[in-house]
Amino acid sequence: MARRTFIRGTGSYLPERVLTNADLARMVETSDEWIQERTGIRKRHVAADGEMTSDIASKAAARALEAAGMAASDIDLIVLATTTPDQTFPATATAVQAKLGTGPGAAFDVQAVCSGFLFALATADSLMKQGLFSRALVIGAETFTRIIDWSDRGTCVLFGDGGGAVVLESVEWDGPEDAGIITHHVRTDGTKSDLLYVDGGVSSTGTVGHVRMEGNKVFRHAVTNISAAVEAVLQETGLTSADIDWFVPHQANKRILDGVAKKLDIPEEKVIVTVTEHANTSAASIPLALDHAVRTGKAKPGDLILSEAMGGGFSWGASLFRL
Ligand code: COA
Repeated sequence: MARRTFIRGTGSYLPERVLTNADLARMVETSDEWIQERTGIRKRHVAADGEMTSDIASKAAARALEAAGMAASDIDLIVLATTTPDQTFPATATAVQAKLGTGPGAAFDVQAVCSGFLFALATADSLMKQGLFSRALVIGAETFTRIIDWSDRGTCVLFGDGGGAVVLESVEWDGPEDAGIITHHVRTDGTKSDLLYVDGGVSSTGTVGHVRMEGNKVFRHAVTNISAAVEAVLQETGLTSADIDWFVPHQANKRILDGVAKKLDIPEEKVIVTVTEHANTSAASIPLALDHAVRTGKAKPGDLILSEAMGGGFSWGASLFRL
């Protein structure tokens, strides 16, 4: 018998304030038509003054705990993926630990930008399979709008704030191999960091910085890297794209999403699309989309889910799991 990790509940949270494409068209030279045509995005949510990443993460996590029928005190591990922490230190996950009142255990952050949730999921799953922790919250949460240059139309239309979470439980398992969290493939390539980055940091400028991106180059790498990661997880498991019940990709741009789905032969009706409603929320976007799929009754217990992401670093990856 080996240990296996299962997803017991999902939750998400979007800040109240909404910024529409029309609002942005009053700030920079752009239009609702351009944004929708190139990205699919209609609106994004923006955290209120004083609302921090840990607040967003805690709300999403509380909803995931409720869905799992668990109390905060049941949790012994929190892995939080974020690029926009409350403070340089301590880890934002420890603020979530304090706010929720989770049980004794560990809480730490993972930084892989838009791929962060998949890196966090792989990390938590690996630690749990070793028997180090038994019940975890894996969270993706961002106040990404705080690192946006609102005069740069090439980036400011693309991002938003939000959070999503899953509750994981590790059990002794001698059932089928394709149950619970099945496998992950995560990769980075530090030589491409100049195509998507923030122009500030603690040890370089002593500032927080703003997002800088060569959008069209990122776009090309995204489709190639994501497809390779997905092919890697499918090959490892012997599953094919026809076995997938739901494709829950990182929500960066509807065109990237469509491009990957087409390359992998995944029909449109199996693709979960939420980027239209909240733009790219970086590490939060996969758990936001997953929670949407669950709460709308699309994704059901036992369904096979394929997730993928690509972000700054470059970082990218794919995960296969059964609900
Ligand atoms: N409104 C109107 N015009 C805009 C604009 C906006 N918000 N942003 C850029 N443009 C203009 C550019 O200035 C350029 O004008 P020019 O031809 O006069 O120089 C023109 O649109 C084309 O720019 P380009 O960057 O080639 O457009 P694109 O078709 O690649 O679309 C993105 C731009 C950003 C939507 C697209 O590249 C993209 O989505 N890339 C991936 C980004 C991403 O998802 N990153 C995160 C990964 S985690």
